[in-house]
Amino acid sequence: MTADWSPQHWKTKPIVQDVVYENQDHVDRVLDKLRRLPPMVSPAEIENLKAQLKEAALGKSFLLQGGDCAELFDYCSQEPIEAKLKVLLQMSLVLTWGARTPVVRIARMAGQYAKPRSNPMEMHEGVEIHSFRGDNVNGFDPKDRKPDPDRLLGAYFHSAATLNYVRTLLDSGFADLHQPSQWNLSHVRSDNVKREYETIVTQLSDSLDFMRTIGADKNDIPNALNSIDFFVSHESLLLDYEASLTRLLTSPSTKEKKWYNTGAHFLWIGDRTRQPDGAHVEYIRGIENPIGVKVGPTTVPEQLVDLLNTVNPNKEIGKVTLITRFGADKVEKFLPQHIEAVRKSGHIPVWVCDPMHGNTKTASGNLKTRHFVDIIQELSQTFRIHKECNSKLNGVHFELTGDSVTECIGGSMDLRDSDLPSNYQTHCDPRLNYEQSLDVAFLIAKYYENERKNKDIPTL
Ligand code: PEP
Ligand code: CO
Repeated sequence: MTADWSPQHWKTKPIVQDVVYENQDHVDRVLDKLRRLPPMVSPAEIENLKAQLKEAALGKSFLLQGGDCAELFDYCSQEPIEAKLKVLLQMSLVLTWGARTPVVRIARMAGQYAKPRSNPMEMHEGVEIHSFRGDNVNGFDPKDRKPDPDRLLGAYFHSAATLNYVRTLLDSGFADLHQPSQWNLSHVRSDNVKREYETIVTQLSDSLDFMRTIGADKNDIPNALNSIDFFVSHESLLLDYEASLTRLLTSPSTKEKKWYNTGAHFLWIGDRTRQPDGAHVEYIRGIENPIGVKVGPTTVPEQLVDLLNTVNPNKEIGKVTLITRFGADKVEKFLPQHIEAVRKSGHIPVWVCDPMHGNTKTASGNLKTRHFVDIIQELSQTFRIHKECNSKLNGVHFELTGDSVTECIGGSMDLRDSDLPSNYQTHCDPRLNYEQSLDVAFLIAKYYENERKNKDIPTL
């Protein structure tokens, strides 16, 4: 257990992105209730994920993390949960086949409700109102912007219900239903791209058939077909909520009592809350869960090393996932120095590329969008830079949905700027839709195929 730490110790540090409520008694009542509610995830699951992330950090498996920017309470419903699970499982199957390694699956789901904002207030019809901070703080409707403590309880119950349905689906064989032979590629507009995808799908189906024939999908060795591990994550932003779900529990491996955040398997701190002396870093340094840190153009390499030393003083391999999000035009300038500084420090993190957050643009009609080409460009450069620096990209992080939304431009369905209003749903950042998400997985699989064919440094 970390000395000089308790789930409340962050209160001694300066905090950013804090939520101010009108009635502190009300907040205290809610937090009391939260502290009595049961854990949503167990120490055994958390340690299992930690072990899998160690493999990822050592280059023996690949991490896929994805989901909504801002999950809404309304997404806690049968179809959206099934659609999200389906797209993540299909992507992970393509990646497993492409990278020839196991894929660790972590969803931004069952708790990804709180959002950091650049401005706490915004103008609406000439009146200043609170910005939307996520469903666990206030409502998107301009009339519902006052922070409401009861939404913290709403977050717990919606997370628990979402996670319960995910577990039910996986226990009932949902993962088996999504065999590549049933995938529909009718959205792909270019004949060349369609042919390439069909080749991958055929090879993938053949490999699965072969495994079935020899019984390799049925023996007791856990594999991608008969044991689906699926983990959930969210940004550790509302520290009162996180602290109330942080419990002193027995570690299944060491039998010692340790502090676990029981609201998610994996927590991360965002680009706006990673101040080395700030409250968010102070909270996250004390929990046993594997954690993520977003790394952007404003991250100073020496400060990143200080941060790693603070949150992972024992240099546990894979304890920390560094999620880089520089932007396609900045990755070349910043990533090499971060890789170098981390290598010199002796830390071995999981290096993950988030090619979404550095590539947000404004489209016509003032809609926030992201161009598929920029996303692929940042990802492709990140693969290359790691290779050139004798490092390895260990995973990817996307904002995506299983639904056919029109929020990002491009992809094999060739979505245009003018298509955006037809099904633009997000209340926060633009997400890849179902087809665009599969596109990315296919492109990464192709990258690995080219690498195996010994092309010097392949591009995506
Ligand atoms: C996010 O992941 O939704 C987010 C806000 O990212 P970042 O902290 O990298 O800006
Ligand atoms: Co986002």
